[in-house]
Amino acid sequence: MSQSSTTASPRQIHLGAIIQGPSGNMSAWRHPDAVADASINVRFVQQLAREAEAAKFDLLFVADGLHINAKSIPHFLNRFEPLTLLSALASITERIGLVGTLSTSYSDPFTVARQFSSLDHLSDGRAGWNVVTSPLEGSAKNFSRDKHPEHALRYRIATEFLSVTKGLWDSWEDDAFVRDKASGVFFDPDKLHTLNHSGEFFSVAGPLNIGRSRQGRPILFQAGASEDGKAVAAEHADAIYTRQETIPLAQAFYADVQKRLAAHGRASNSLKVFQGISVIVADSADDAEARYQETARLVTIDNALDYLGRYFDHHDFSQYPLDAPFPDIGELGSNQFRSTTDAIKRNAYERGLTLRQVALEAATPRPSFSGAPEQVADGLQAWVEARATDGFIVRGGSPTAFTDFATKVVPILQERGAYRRDYEGVTLREHLGLDYPANQFAQTA
Ligand SMILES: Cc1cc2nc3c(=O)[nH]c(=O)nc-3n(C[C@H](O)[C@H](O)[C@H](O)COP(=O)(O)O)c2cc1C
Repeated sequence: MSQSSTTASPRQIHLGAIIQGPSGNMSAWRHPDAVADASINVRFVQQLAREAEAAKFDLLFVADGLHINAKSIPHFLNRFEPLTLLSALASITERIGLVGTLSTSYSDPFTVARQFSSLDHLSDGRAGWNVVTSPLEGSAKNFSRDKHPEHALRYRIATEFLSVTKGLWDSWEDDAFVRDKASGVFFDPDKLHTLNHSGEFFSVAGPLNIGRSRQGRPILFQAGASEDGKAVAAEHADAIYTRQETIPLAQAFYADVQKRLAAHGRASNSLKVFQGISVIVADSADDAEARYQETARLVTIDNALDYLGRYFDHHDFSQYPLDAPFPDIGELGSNQFRSTTDAIKRNAYERGLTLRQVALEAATPRPSFSGAPEQVADGLQAWVEARATDGFIVRGGSPTAFTDFATKVVPILQERGAYRRDYEGVTLREHLGLDYPANQFAQTA
């Protein structure tokens, strides 16, 4: 290949498919074509998993939460626990990665290490854990606690939690289990490592009662874009799930993460950034707009105020005048979805928006990419080529949008050489182009 054609080859895009109720906004379940019970309908989820795998997606991604009330988003009210769902999907898929959300604020490292390691073995090396710290105060009351830990404390817990979990995952070296029938030796004791961790939040002896998997250990995603969130990601994560509105903002985020990786002595390609996006694929820009309006008009202003309120720990926004400037709510939200609530407030004040505008923008977000398949493909490539991201976690913005994306946009990306035509590897780590991790306790010769 000549030098010029090498430099001209497009950057490869990574794709994930989010599993989170029906495609579209919070009220999209009311659309005539929507599967209204999608969040608890295993057939719907299996179909989505098969479509994503047929389109050679890197991974499926299941979000989660630990607290609901009557004002929560409808598809949060009745939904699957991520690891249980992914275990079911492991048995009907062969290559696609399986990433589930689980909170470090309300779990124990030993259990979490076992669960994700089990999913990793069940799926032959396709498991990933999306590490979150739980934004909602009400979670505490579901876990016998008086108080939800505050933002900085949650991230301190998360940091120690991840060190412990990684230590447990290295309890056994890759070739520890010899299972020699003739001699009766089941394992090599030199290759067993007992953690004996004693720290600020956790005391965990180990070893873990499950060994390393085909991809060494599960892939770690981190979702949370505050300073503390990025710090945890740079130290521990293999991937970040984030959301930025524009290419310049995403480039700045990407560059910031790269700088932090270098400070930890990590290679720049050792962490992949995924932008969460919604898409509407249509015949034209006008057709895409019509499809957007079909679900946008299903969201009432009351729905939208509830949606906005959830980010601010279910703050009651109905107490403020709708058409006055967005109210001064001080630090509200900073102990919950901090990076998101900071962005909402900044945007509202800078653009001088009313409460009605802020609520509707939050609850009926315009698709990140929309229009004819070529337009959507152009948009995705522009972000990746600009090093604003390594890939996208895709959510349909209308009932048919995910299928349209998988069957119309992905083939264009494949044609352009920007996306795989088939899986080259077996594990999620291989799909993401990440190195196999050395066991931290193994003696290197
Ligand atoms: C893009 C994105 C996705 C998130 N997904 C989840 C989720 O599925 N479940 C959850 O409990 N928290 C989720 N979070 C919340 C964070 O994990 C964290 O608890 C909260 O946002 C505060 O972190 P931050 O201020 O660092 O963003 C998400 C945050 C972001 C930015």
